[in-house]
Amino acid sequence: MRYLITAALPYANGPLHIGHIAGAYLPADIFTRYLRLRGEEVVFVCGSDEHGVAITLRAWQENTSPQTIIDRYHPLLEASLRRLGIEMDYYGRTSHPVHHRIAQHFFLRLLEKGWLERQEVEQFWDTQAQTFLPDRYIIGTCPHCGFEEAYGDQCEKCGALLAPSDLINPRSRLTGSVPERRPSTQYYLRLDKLQPHLVRYVQQHSWKPNVGPVIQNWLRQGLSPRAITRDLSWGIPVPLEGMENKVLYVWFEAPLGYISITQLWAQAQGEPQAWERFWKDPNTRLVHFIGKDNIVFHTLIFPAVLMAVEEGYVLPYAVPAHEFLNLEGKKISTSRRWSIDIDAYLEVAPDRIDELRFVLTALMPQTKDRDFTWEEFSVRINNELVATLTNLLHRLLSLLWRQGRAHKVQPTPLWLQHRAEAARQIGERLENYDFAGALDALMELARQANRSLNEDAPWHQSPEKAYEILLGYTDLLAAMGTLLEPFLPTRVAPTLRSYLGVPLFSWKALETPSPLLAEITLTQQPQPLVPKLTEKELQKMRDTLLPVSSEEKAPSQAAPNVYISIEDFQKISLKVVTIRKAERIPNTDKLLKVLIEAEDGLHTVVSGIAQSYTPEQLVGKQAIWVANLMPRVMRGVRSEGMLLFAGEGASALVRVAPEHEVPPGTPVK
Ligand code: MF3
Ligand code: ZN
Repeated sequence: MRYLITAALPYANGPLHIGHIAGAYLPADIFTRYLRLRGEEVVFVCGSDEHGVAITLRAWQENTSPQTIIDRYHPLLEASLRRLGIEMDYYGRTSHPVHHRIAQHFFLRLLEKGWLERQEVEQFWDTQAQTFLPDRYIIGTCPHCGFEEAYGDQCEKCGALLAPSDLINPRSRLTGSVPERRPSTQYYLRLDKLQPHLVRYVQQHSWKPNVGPVIQNWLRQGLSPRAITRDLSWGIPVPLEGMENKVLYVWFEAPLGYISITQLWAQAQGEPQAWERFWKDPNTRLVHFIGKDNIVFHTLIFPAVLMAVEEGYVLPYAVPAHEFLNLEGKKISTSRRWSIDIDAYLEVAPDRIDELRFVLTALMPQTKDRDFTWEEFSVRINNELVATLTNLLHRLLSLLWRQGRAHKVQPTPLWLQHRAEAARQIGERLENYDFAGALDALMELARQANRSLNEDAPWHQSPEKAYEILLGYTDLLAAMGTLLEPFLPTRVAPTLRSYLGVPLFSWKALETPSPLLAEITLTQQPQPLVPKLTEKELQKMRDTLLPVSSEEKAPSQAAPNVYISIEDFQKISLKVVTIRKAERIPNTDKLLKVLIEAEDGLHTVVSGIAQSYTPEQLVGKQAIWVANLMPRVMRGVRSEGMLLFAGEGASALVRVAPEHEVPPGTPVK
């Protein structure tokens, strides 16, 4: 079988977080590595999605051009994915001319084949910003669930796909003003006419339990024509006269990136036509790894486009979508700074990459949302990865090392069976996109080996008997060098193979109950493959990575030309409070624990002002309080919100207070 594997093209407007990794890139990588070990022909492509409104928005906020934004993030995204061991054959980008050409070609083809229709529509125009507003820039009340901050393209609460005109009380996200409707012409893809073909396509494929119902729901409601052009300046120009200032809708062109990037891969291989094997030969399985918010685009809209151009493209064979990974019980949100950025992780724990992969695989949100906590992170590493898996390997390696370097591989028939059976089970689960289950089967093999090693207790036997027992595990050790590879490829699996001087075996060999090789020769004294995660290390990770508190960010990091919308500002609750008590926090030189009074009673705030104020200078005074900051624990004290002081540098801060005393809790607006 030939496979083309893709992972959702990340928007080039910011860093990736652990949810993205667990939801798309890691499963795609594990799957790809496994298929390669099976000897399948497989290409894995990914790249930056560089046209979305998210990018324009980011550029507007930073007062720069979209091009600057994408040129900054594109290389960063690739670098962090590669450092995580995500082994893509090619990482492309949708601003590439090859991509523009393909997207425009697809558009013209759809037009020629009669699948597009021109419609005069009312578009929202922001009278203050003097611009048409993209769907994402409009918020209002969702007609389906009543959520008041639904976007013009989708309600994040109930997931309904929307058009801006569906919103009740629409407002511009840019200026907060009520947008005006102006006529404009757009091209619509006739999804309604394509529906019967899609129904057939959907029936002919099998879908994960979290994907099938989503598709069915869409089909049941009936697909309607969908605009695939937009009034925007950033994007791929609509290749028609009279359509200046219009671009192709990002969700129309971005998935075509999978094709253009495969072409770029083929060119880089020096085999420019090779891409066609992957896109036009029905023996290819096209598999898209994505997050759940992308399901409709990959299972209905993209297949609709592929079939409608009638150029012999294969359709997605499977779309293993993942649910969301939450963080300590709350939805990950970069804008709300509730997130663990991959780049930040790589900085704090550059030697703990396989460990992160291990935990994210165990917690993979395969059919429902899962929760990442630091507690579980450390337990999974110390009690499972270290105590069960790598401890077994280390025990075996060190016992063997004491006996010399070269050792015969003499597995018992029972262990050959166990190993072959485990390899089959891991493979089967991977093929069903059950990554956590596959890892579990691997761990079960390790648990079984630990138990049996403890029962055999070579350390209680005569030296000859002990050595014979050990030789019974050499085949398992050698097999582990490959079994671990899809999951822990950046350090653990290659180190194990190098200790043993063994190559990667084919997965088929692992599934066959006969010895993998005749002899192994240890190359050096083995060290534990994964060092235990210490309290101190964990504390450092927690402190640096979560939550990324706005308090800890130096003010200079907030660029002065970052604009926020009035809605964003209105989310901040500022109040005047009266300071009732203040005391130094022991063993710190900057921190005071301050008890403040608001309209609803007393609150505790930890404030970094001890070098500017003594507790006595503050008691009885008023201050401005940011009331709705996420509470966090600092030095064992739970801090609610933050007090505002003027000035830079810890020793030159000045209290900010109202002109004259007002009742505690008075809002500042
Ligand atoms: N950039 C989109 C996201 O992060 C995913 C695009 S996937 C593609 O949600 F298929 F459109 F490329
Ligand atoms: Zn809704």
